[in-house]
Amino acid sequence: MHLSINNITFGYNGWPVLDHLTEEIHKGDFVAIVGPNGSGKSTLLRCIDGILKPQAGSILLDQEDVHHLDRPSRAKTFGYVPQESGHTPPATVFDTVLMGRKPYIGWRVRERDKQITSRIIHQLHIEDIAMKDVNKLSGGQKQRVFIARALAQQPEILLLDEPTANLDLRHQLEVLQLLQEVSQNNITTMVAIHDLNLAAQYCSRFIMLKDGKIFSSGNKEILTKENIESLYNVKVKIFHAEDRVFFVPQGKK
Ligand SMILES: Nc1ncnc2c1ncn2[C@@H]1O[C@H](COP(=O)(O)OP(=O)(O)OP(=O)(O)O)[C@@H](O)[C@H]1O
Ligand SMILES: [Mg+2]
Repeated sequence: MHLSINNITFGYNGWPVLDHLTEEIHKGDFVAIVGPNGSGKSTLLRCIDGILKPQAGSILLDQEDVHHLDRPSRAKTFGYVPQESGHTPPATVFDTVLMGRKPYIGWRVRERDKQITSRIIHQLHIEDIAMKDVNKLSGGQKQRVFIARALAQQPEILLLDEPTANLDLRHQLEVLQLLQEVSQNNITTMVAIHDLNLAAQYCSRFIMLKDGKIFSSGNKEILTKENIESLYNVKVKIFHAEDRVFFVPQGKK
């Protein structure tokens, strides 16, 4: 599905946050939304998911306005993993992931829903905690469970707000690798992410947000020293090694 963000403007209680954003996202893109704290990354993801309605402009999926979709179609289209998961209803990890199948389940859970749930639990290596209460997990374990639940929805577009924030080094790599595979299977994937080195390694497109505006967007070529220094107002050194690029902050500009 093609996603068009058309000149959207959004503010909380009249306080402007997103300012005339326009962007085209193609099917299968793996998009990193980067930018300073408060620049509007989470707000943009919530607008795309349809939780928030822009005051002006529109978000179109293959020409259809996201806000015209009914709830079940929205749930089949978007999987959203928020930045803060908060408290969730007491349930086992298995049942929490199975909840992702809700848009497809009629009056009873089918064998297929259980199979999809088990496969995704396996993919995210959370088999060992599958029968635990989700509220009794560590932050990183919970995060992987919520990513699993969003994948169980089999959405067309996956939106994740800082999916690696609570994860250890190995799980950061595993989750990003998995999301890269998901996007290569034509599920458009968008992540808000602070770790530029990880974003540069795995993502195919980048949107730089600053003060609610698009500072720059495009492929890896926009990850320049100049762009990053003025985006974050910090000095950085850039290193190239093994076909990868690394950014090391050096201090305030
Ligand atoms: N529910 C809300 N009500 C009022 N203002 C909000 C709300 N959520 C966010 N804001 C404000 O909107 C602006 C953008 O916030 P947002 O959470 O989108 O930023 P962000 O880029 O995701 O930041 P971070 O990197 O810290 O997660 C901030 O100034 C924030 O204070
Ligand atoms: Mg945020």
